[in-house]
Amino acid sequence: EDEAFLAAFQERIDAEQKIEPNDPMPEGYRKTLIRQISQHAHSEIIGMQPEGNWITRAPSLRRKAALLAKIQDEGGHGLYLYSAAETLGVSREEMTEQLLSGAAKYSSIFNYPALTWADIGAIGWLVDGAAIMNQIALCRCSYGPYARAMIRICKEESFHQRQGYEILITLCNGSDEQKEMAQDALNRFWWPSLMMFGPSEGESVHSQQSMLWKIKRFSNDDLRDKFINATVPQAEFLGLKVPDPELKWDEKKQGYDHGDIDWDEFWRVVKGDGPCNRERMRTRRKVEREGAWVREAALAYAEKRAAREAA
Ligand code: 3HC
Repeated sequence: EDEAFLAAFQERIDAEQKIEPNDPMPEGYRKTLIRQISQHAHSEIIGMQPEGNWITRAPSLRRKAALLAKIQDEGGHGLYLYSAAETLGVSREEMTEQLLSGAAKYSSIFNYPALTWADIGAIGWLVDGAAIMNQIALCRCSYGPYARAMIRICKEESFHQRQGYEILITLCNGSDEQKEMAQDALNRFWWPSLMMFGPSEGESVHSQQSMLWKIKRFSNDDLRDKFINATVPQAEFLGLKVPDPELKWDEKKQGYDHGDIDWDEFWRVVKGDGPCNRERMRTRRKVEREGAWVREAALAYAEKRAAREAA
């Protein structure tokens, strides 16, 4: 693309104009959005697995109903996001192939196991809490279809976070064993939740350009800090201890200082060697095979209906 085209596009971005599917856009803008939106969609779909393992073991009908509703929501979020990505010229089949072949990523957090019922509370509270922090910013993303998908997703995420936090309130007000379960879940999900925001400044290859194009409104570290500042008081309200000995409030900056994130663990999990990566991908590939007949039937029905309407 020539300089004049790129400059004119940047002017539109700087003027806070929304870019729509049929607008002329730099190839790099299109590509990075397909990358981010499709991986966001993959995250929603893979994220259904750890929670799905607990539907038959929910402790009450009310908890089961809330968990079912949350998991169905996540599937819907995946649908909105795949549809938003398709407006950029990539097909659902291509994106699915990229996931199944391992070419595409999904959020590292879903490669950790949900070992106890308290984990379902911690996932709602911390994982959806982190997702909300990230997705509120994405509501102001320069690409129209992505920003609009986020507005509805954020409304549903706040229900997800509230039901997770309520599970932990119940456990923390329960027996000693229940409170220990909640503390154990926080111990295992705290650091992986911080990793959801992505690498720190130096390691974030896309941030600078994504900020210029207003796909990203804050740096990974800024959003991570916002999340920590909002979440530590919630842990204190539960009477739980955040598993970071270096966490301490800095009055001057009105925020928490925290310990170092284990980036070796982060990259190991992102690159496929986390606790559950193989299981998540094995399950996703299995359901792709088992669900083929549904897709074929739906496509055959759509073709017949189109032929009838065309006749
Ligand atoms: N897990 C896996 N990969 C990650 C990651 C993580 N936690 N954090 C970063 N990465 C990857 C990036 O995708 C990129 O790899 P790629 O070039 O192959 O895509 C690489 O690490 C470098 O990271 P960057 O910071 O340069 O990449 P981005 O600018 O894309 O920032 C991001 C990463 C903040 C995750 C951004 O992509 C983003 O905001 N994505 C949309 C939000 C999202 O995907 N959230 C998933 C959370 S789970 C969820 O929403 C479900 C909830 O309902 C429970």
